Amino acid sequence: LEDNRGLVVVLFCLPASFIFDVCLRFRNWVIRYLFSAPHQHNERVRTIQAAVRKWNDLPTENRRPMCTSRPNWLSLSTTFFQKKDCHQITVSLFDILNLDEENMIVKVEPMVSVRDVTDYLITRGYALAVTLEIGDATCGGLAMAVGMTTYSHKVGLYQEAVVSYDVVTADGSLIHVERDNEHEDLFSCLPWSHGTLGFLVALELKIIKVKPYIHLQYIPVKGKKNYCDKMRLLSGALDKLATTPDYLEATVFSKDEAVIMVGNFSYADKPGEMGKVNNVARWYKPWFYKHVETFLRTGGGDEYIPLQQYLLRHNRAIFWVVEAMIPFGNHPIFRALLGWLCPPKPAFLKFTTTPGVRAMTFTRQVFQDIVLPMTVLEKSIDIAEDLFDTYPILIYPCRIYDHGVNSGQLRPPREDQMCPGANYGMFYDLGVYGVPGKVKRKERYDSVKAMRSMESFIRQHGGYSFLYADIFMTKEEFHEMFDLTLYEQCRVKYGAVGAFPHLYDKVKPEINVFEVGRTWAETN
Ligand SMILES: Cc1cc2nc3c(=O)[nH]c(=O)nc-3n(C[C@H](O)[C@H](O)[C@H](O)COP(=O)(O)OP(=O)(O)OC[C@H]3O[C@@H](n4cnc5c(N)ncnc54)[C@H](O)[C@@H]3O)c2cc1C
Ligand SMILES: *[C@@H]1O[C@H](CO)[C@@H](O)[C@H](O)[C@H]1NC(C)=O
Repeated sequence: LEDNRGLVVVLFCLPASFIFDVCLRFRNWVIRYLFSAPHQHNERVRTIQAAVRKWNDLPTENRRPMCTSRPNWLSLSTTFFQKKDCHQITVSLFDILNLDEENMIVKVEPMVSVRDVTDYLITRGYALAVTLEIGDATCGGLAMAVGMTTYSHKVGLYQEAVVSYDVVTADGSLIHVERDNEHEDLFSCLPWSHGTLGFLVALELKIIKVKPYIHLQYIPVKGKKNYCDKMRLLSGALDKLATTPDYLEATVFSKDEAVIMVGNFSYADKPGEMGKVNNVARWYKPWFYKHVETFLRTGGGDEYIPLQQYLLRHNRAIFWVVEAMIPFGNHPIFRALLGWLCPPKPAFLKFTTTPGVRAMTFTRQVFQDIVLPMTVLEKSIDIAEDLFDTYPILIYPCRIYDHGVNSGQLRPPREDQMCPGANYGMFYDLGVYGVPGKVKRKERYDSVKAMRSMESFIRQHGGYSFLYADIFMTKEEFHEMFDLTLYEQCRVKYGAVGAFPHLYDKVKPEINVFEVGRTWAETN
């Protein structure tokens, strides 16, 4: 199976995933068109409150910690949190509630997907300030976890674009949480809390004005120091007054070669511009990163990409993950005939994951997004190569604000990581996805050891692991990476202790990492 994985995927997995997706879309359509009722929001929230109060009435020994009933396979997280051990509360809220164009705020229910809100906003000339590249991510999931995108060097993490959260707490009360109201502490701790402080039932998000196209320039750069320096310069990490492009990202193809992409909003309405429109997301087009790679040879170029296609540019190849599943997937004939079947849906892949497959993805693949300060960009590329040896690597910058005592689980950036004169430091997302070189070459690869070395580097430099991916830390190491002081206070103040799992227990892999590591050491 492993040797002919591509054929297996194409003959079985893609068609099945397609049917699965059609069913899922039909289900969503039914939910949306038959049950969509923004005006019933309050009523629906009252039902959730009632369910939580009912849990409170149970005898103490029967009260298992609560979580939402959204099946784990629908979540984009690579871990499989065991919901069956929890008391599940149905939070079925999927409507867009209100668009306030004057204050540039959209109010949504938590299960509205990025794709749905983007469709809704773009036709009106707006987009979320932080629009994730993955259409299936949900507005609520991103708010309770973390979101970061190629616009983040301007606005920071997804949480910076949240104006308010409506939360049902452990005792069933509904509270409105804002930065400057009496629930400021909770406002700081809800991001990165993964649903361990309360149920989110609505949120208000900042939006930005957009134009229909992105003018994207591809800049190939040779030499690690050169592309790292250029990213620091373009992101505004060195000077808070620098004019920065709207979108900024780099794809690193080897230690010495990267293509930097600089994009600005545009109308693409001038004659010369219209000829340069490229519909990169169409099914027959080359995978986006392959297209980007061609600029290493041609010396660069620029084009106009319809905004929606730009935002979902990495969707069809799930960055570059699909290549490991379908090695011939980018062949022109394959694309022309079957390209529309890609990508296999993450929900389908998760739905059909057996323990064996899970163990394999856990030990033979790497799937990590990591937040690190721009000051260690070069070092992080070296370390990623040493430990994982897989390219391409994704890089895009993001502001991390110093909110002082209200920084929540993140620590304020260190002095040398701050942008001079600003109240933020410039960090970046290091995205490492794929099959490690050692696994490809059929050499021995110790995933636990490699990941633990990576995490040690992250902690040393005040960075953070995204918690949707597998973590390999002990509880003590987790506490070192995240500042849980205010979080623990909120757990007590808002009655979450005993009512919701603890953050570490919620996000740690359901597999015993240390056991896997020990077994590996014994058998090799
Ligand atoms: C290939 C790939 C690439 C990725 N790249 C990026 C990237 O570049 N940038 C980025 O920011 N992210 C990236 N991600 C991560 C992705 O954005 C996260 O998984 C994110 O959390 C959104 O997923 P979701 O909507 O499925 O949330 P979920 O996983 O469903 O939810 C996230 C957490 O919030 C909790 N939660 C959800 N809804 C509620 C609610 N109503 N009340 C209380 N708690 C709730 C859940 O229990 C969970 O712990 C990537 C993921 C993949 C698979
Ligand atoms: C985008 O805008 C920035 C800042 O104004 C400018 O330096 C850059 O050249 C522009 N790039 C493109 C591709 O339009």
